[in-house]
Amino acid sequence: MRIDILTVMPEMLESPLNCSILKRAQEKGLAQICVHNLRDYTHDRHRKVDDYPFGGEAGMVMKVQPVDECITQLRVERDYDEVIFVTPDGKTFDQPTANALSLLDNIILLCGHYKGIDYRIREHFVTREISIGDYVLTGGELPAAVIADAVVRLIPGVIGDEQSALSDSFQDNLLAPPVYTRPADYKGWKVPDILLSGHQAKIDQWRYDQALERTRRLRPDLLGE
Ligand code: ADE
Repeated sequence: MRIDILTVMPEMLESPLNCSILKRAQEKGLAQICVHNLRDYTHDRHRKVDDYPFGGEAGMVMKVQPVDECITQLRVERDYDEVIFVTPDGKTFDQPTANALSLLDNIILLCGHYKGIDYRIREHFVTREISIGDYVLTGGELPAAVIADAVVRLIPGVIGDEQSALSDSFQDNLLAPPVYTRPADYKGWKVPDILLSGHQAKIDQWRYDQALERTRRLRPDLLGE
């Protein structure tokens, strides 16, 4: 899978994209993540990517032209399944959306900044708008990194133990059950006996019961309650 991220702040993406799972996925050739600085698509001395809004509102607006030229150039090289604008007024990102995006070949993530982007970009290029939650961040870079992480870890082969992506919280609308590691007794704080019993069917049942209990207590909305 290839993800192209369009931004005016490429520095913000450097470390999230080059650590841990995202780094490993790229090294294994399972994902290619390319960051494009929209300032490289300007033609003026100041590399201006924003301008004053028509109608006299406060704040600056991202210009159409650098985004147009960047996307147009990328489209010459390949077809894109989605051009996604990350914005607080998009549809809230969730696990089913991450699952669906992980099946695609090529996507563009467009990061907004300032007051917003010229609406013509949304009308003429954007196929989907995603928010990572009902709060406003300074720009779309951190949301783009969140989306890239959630999507790339689902690509087969990216996570060593393939089971582990499938047993994540939310994958079946349940929160994950508690997990423990050695020692079995730390200062008298004991791991539940059932996990040490070696009885796999009973352990699986315990895990399911715990997942259900935690979901009911912490996120009843996931159960439609
Ligand atoms: N840009 C600023 N805030 C955002 C959010 N919550 N989700 C996606 N993009 C954003």
